[in-house]
Amino acid sequence: MSNSTATASAAANIALVKYWGKASIENNQPATGSVSLGLEGLRTTTTLEYATGDHDTFDTELDDKARKRAASFLDLVRQKYRITQRLHITTANNFPTGTGLASSASGFAALSLAFNALFSLNLSKTALSQMARLGSGSAARSVYGGIVELIPSDDAYAIPIATAEEWPLDVIVAVTEERPKAIGSTDAMIQTASTSPFYQSWLSSHADDMTSAKQAIAEKDFRRLADTSEHNCLKMHATMITSEPPIIYWQPATVEIMHEVRALRSSGTPAFFTIDAGAQVKIVCLPSATDTIRQQLKAITGLKRVIVTRLGGSPSVTTS
Ligand code: DP6
Repeated sequence: MSNSTATASAAANIALVKYWGKASIENNQPATGSVSLGLEGLRTTTTLEYATGDHDTFDTELDDKARKRAASFLDLVRQKYRITQRLHITTANNFPTGTGLASSASGFAALSLAFNALFSLNLSKTALSQMARLGSGSAARSVYGGIVELIPSDDAYAIPIATAEEWPLDVIVAVTEERPKAIGSTDAMIQTASTSPFYQSWLSSHADDMTSAKQAIAEKDFRRLADTSEHNCLKMHATMITSEPPIIYWQPATVEIMHEVRALRSSGTPAFFTIDAGAQVKIVCLPSATDTIRQQLKAITGLKRVIVTRLGGSPSVTTS
């Protein structure tokens, strides 16, 4: 039996070993695996109800492009599960959208979870992860909280690998640019894959980073996770910077914060940075270091604001 409304909340995530490049554009298959941290406080909440007319309707601050992307995703999953019902979608993020803060991850995960609940599809977590991946590769990871691995295959899906209770970590998001980015991650990764001379090296060296990060997580080896994550992040940005035309997401404050975090780590503060397809820097640290890092960030010119959250982000779903 189906419900009359379903509401899902899913969290954004940040990859420490990144997904950058597609094995199939058509099925949105990532070319590599990835490892991410769910961000407890950065969430999308989405409610689905039946629409009265013959097309999907939205109640959201999302722009036209994002609405169209959500509507095409709904068409795809309706076709897959032989559902014709059009929907009214109410959705909101509690963090800035389109600036490199992974709104597509939490957005498509919340939409998939709400769709499953509204139509009582009773899909497994693996099937939900695969569904979310069709909307956005990183969304496959946001159907879980904690530390999550995406396993590439011909129908790639994510699995949880550690909980926040097993390894409590804080994440400080340093917002250095509030304007929307010039190019979204989907287009940027396609451009990178077809033009950067470094893209093949990115692919061939990726498995080593996956092994190293997963071992560091299993052993709670912060230093090793820090080195592997920064290396993987910088390699991804190297492929972007060397694409034609180049894609340079960094702002001066982005680089300043990278130096600051590395200096802090050299002097014993357990912290490292990662940067996705945007200018924002995400600083991962042990909770004991959070206050020190916040203090240090105050000196950075060009820093717009700071969001402090922690590893977590388990999704929730309610129906009525
Ligand atoms: C840099 O998941 O946004 O954040 O599948 O085309 O929607 P699409 O891409 P998306 O790309 C994420 C890129 C990244 C790295 C990562 O999250 O693994």
